[in-house]
Amino acid sequence: MKNWKINSWRKYPVKHIPEYQDKKELDQVLNKIKSFPPLVFAEETRHLKKQLAEVVDGKAFLLQGGDCAESFAEFNPDNIRDYFKVILQMSLVLTYSASLPVIKLGRIAGQFAKPRSAPTEKQGDTELPSYLGDNVNGIEFTEKARKHDPKRLFKAYSQSASTLNLLRAFSHGGFADLKKVHLWNLGYIKKSPQAKKFKELEDKIADALAFMDACGINSEFNRRLKTVNFWTSHEALHLPFEESMTRIDSTTGEYHATSAHFVWIGDRTRQLDGGHVEYCRGIENPIGIKCGPTSKPDEIVKICNLINPTNEKGKITLISRFGHDSVGKYLPKLIRGIKKEGANVIWSCDPMHGNTIQSTTGFKTRRFNNVLKEVKDVFAVHQSEGSYAGGLHIEMTGQNVTECTGGAKNIQDQDLSSRYHTHCDPRLNADQALELAFLISDEIKKNSSYSKNAIQAAS
Ligand code: PEP
Ligand code: CO
Repeated sequence: MKNWKINSWRKYPVKHIPEYQDKKELDQVLNKIKSFPPLVFAEETRHLKKQLAEVVDGKAFLLQGGDCAESFAEFNPDNIRDYFKVILQMSLVLTYSASLPVIKLGRIAGQFAKPRSAPTEKQGDTELPSYLGDNVNGIEFTEKARKHDPKRLFKAYSQSASTLNLLRAFSHGGFADLKKVHLWNLGYIKKSPQAKKFKELEDKIADALAFMDACGINSEFNRRLKTVNFWTSHEALHLPFEESMTRIDSTTGEYHATSAHFVWIGDRTRQLDGGHVEYCRGIENPIGIKCGPTSKPDEIVKICNLINPTNEKGKITLISRFGHDSVGKYLPKLIRGIKKEGANVIWSCDPMHGNTIQSTTGFKTRRFNNVLKEVKDVFAVHQSEGSYAGGLHIEMTGQNVTECTGGAKNIQDQDLSSRYHTHCDPRLNADQALELAFLISDEIKKNSSYSKNAIQAAS
């Protein structure tokens, strides 16, 4: 890797990295983190990358989801469990209906730091630094809370470690056993149309499992019926923290971000000559790149070449987030630019970040119908361009929140205040997330003749 060092990003311009008053304290905290164990192991990351290569070939689907911003206040085992239930349900819908393996990638166990549109926030006559995520400062609008505090980085690291510990236990300890599919339902969605559809699917799976059991195949003998692979991801925004979690893999000598299996570069920090791209080009992890309306196809191609000079499959995921009324304007050009270059990428769709609006009642929200429309349009564009829509990137939670309007319960602007808990952007609740999964499985089924052709052509 030419001229790359673990800290070479420091020589490049960087945006959205917090300034700290007490630099000595920041260094002390970062040194402490450096001496603590990695959160993930390099071999796991390589395993994920191999699975992602299957998505490039149209043989699997990538489901990436979780909080916009994790918080210290909402951290508790029930929230992690309920989030995991929704991920399992969504991936079951996709696996069963679309007959595709689903790669489960959480926006969790490290998704704290946030880029903000303005460095300060004004309320009345008071102006304070913006909230930048719980690993940097507090959300309360007071001078004390908004001060950038290095100690929060260590607290976020510790929370990530315990979150990941529970998720690993759920993934491998029996919770994800297909026999237990009925336990993944969340009480509060039992009456919704999605829950009814899921129940039908559950019954079909129970029949299939009973048949397999009679043939001698069951979860006691086959680990794959009982466990799932669950991977973690977050935006690689806070580079001082990422640097302290970047380690050399002793088995290969390569550098890995060990804060998560997968990291992505946000839409506001993907400058070709910026520190975030520089950092990401030196690590072995699979990398996501958010592509919004300001992204130019030739720039994205250059970033892909810089980060993935060997054109390795599974290394790059392009996450488009153009907004429900702009997919046709931007996505075809981007697909054509990437195709012309012959770059291997996963095409994932983020139908959230281009659709954030202010509700009439003053809340940041997203209309669920706009989310659905962006997904449908993205599938249609990929269909007509002959590319494979292989992933979904969403902000969601297992909690019964009222943050995005519409969906089965037809949440209105007036309802948003009832259970609005997000620390940053509005998330889909379980009903809305499941509805989206059913919609995508229909879209994949519609396009399946294409993806089968693509597989044959590629093999
Ligand atoms: C995010 O994913 O939370 C985010 C800030 O997205 P984007 O970089 O696409 O705006
Ligand atoms: Co967000």
